Amino acid sequence: MVSKLLEITLSSNVDHYAVLGNPISHSLSPQIHQQFAEQTDQNLRYQALEAPLEQFQEMVEQFRLAGGKGLNITVPFKQQAWKLTEQRSEFAERAGSVNTLSFDQNNRIIGDNTDGCGMVRDILVNLQQTIKGKRILLLGAGGAVRGVVDPLFKEQPASCVIANRTISRAEQLVEVFSDLGDVSATEFSDLAGREFDLIINGTSASLQGELPPLPKNILAEAGVCYDMMYSKAPTKFVEWGREQEAVLAVDGLGMLIEQAAESFHIWRDVRPLTDSVIKSFRS
Ligand code: ATR
Repeated sequence: MVSKLLEITLSSNVDHYAVLGNPISHSLSPQIHQQFAEQTDQNLRYQALEAPLEQFQEMVEQFRLAGGKGLNITVPFKQQAWKLTEQRSEFAERAGSVNTLSFDQNNRIIGDNTDGCGMVRDILVNLQQTIKGKRILLLGAGGAVRGVVDPLFKEQPASCVIANRTISRAEQLVEVFSDLGDVSATEFSDLAGREFDLIINGTSASLQGELPPLPKNILAEAGVCYDMMYSKAPTKFVEWGREQEAVLAVDGLGMLIEQAAESFHIWRDVRPLTDSVIKSFRS
């Protein structure tokens, strides 16, 4: 199976999957999926492919035509991917972004967003924290945050405040998700004097080694800080959480592995165990 345009060549004796992004060289997804495949005895190959910024759609098409079974989509293509899908899961529909594409027997492109479920599962199952009744502060209003609001509300938090540098983007999200419960928008400068039980960083500030301008004393006693980004060294936000005496301040490695497990489940109809995979990456 060969496609000429982007020279994707897939052997036919194994099912092929890939993650598409730009840049992509840092991606841990191939290693994660390889561990899942070994653990569940699935015959598949998973690679990381860099899509040229202007050729995302062609790349998806070529991968599909070459016989690929499914794709993960990462920065900066999740919203574009949503537009390519002919059918979407409930969470993906509203998030306006997808991170998982499956190609069905009729060659239709099905879109899912497993980021939010992955994060919620990491918080509830791996980290043994509760979301129900909690006052949540979500930092950021980009694609990362869009993907988690719906799954978070399925766990019945008391409220969710979305703080963003550009307030209009936070307000747009409130419009999209306001029917779910108590959702509101704010600027960082208006956070002083308020208190939250769970603060989730969905900005891309950590990628640049930066921290959103957060006032002190907004984390409640026994509060939790969760960074959707991950890195080998603690992110600035994780460091901030520790300074605020969070009972737990963690990065998003668990989320990354859980969203991958959710995608794997969609594609292969078998759910890999994530415990050992998270441990192996942490070490
Ligand atoms: P993604 O899809 O990864 O969420 P995005 O849509 O570009 O990427 O969104 C990035 C988010 O991080 C935005 O909320 C952005 O704030 P603006 O909407 O004001 O641009 C936020 N962000 C990025 N760098 C930041 C920084 N240094 N401090 C605070 N917020 C930052």
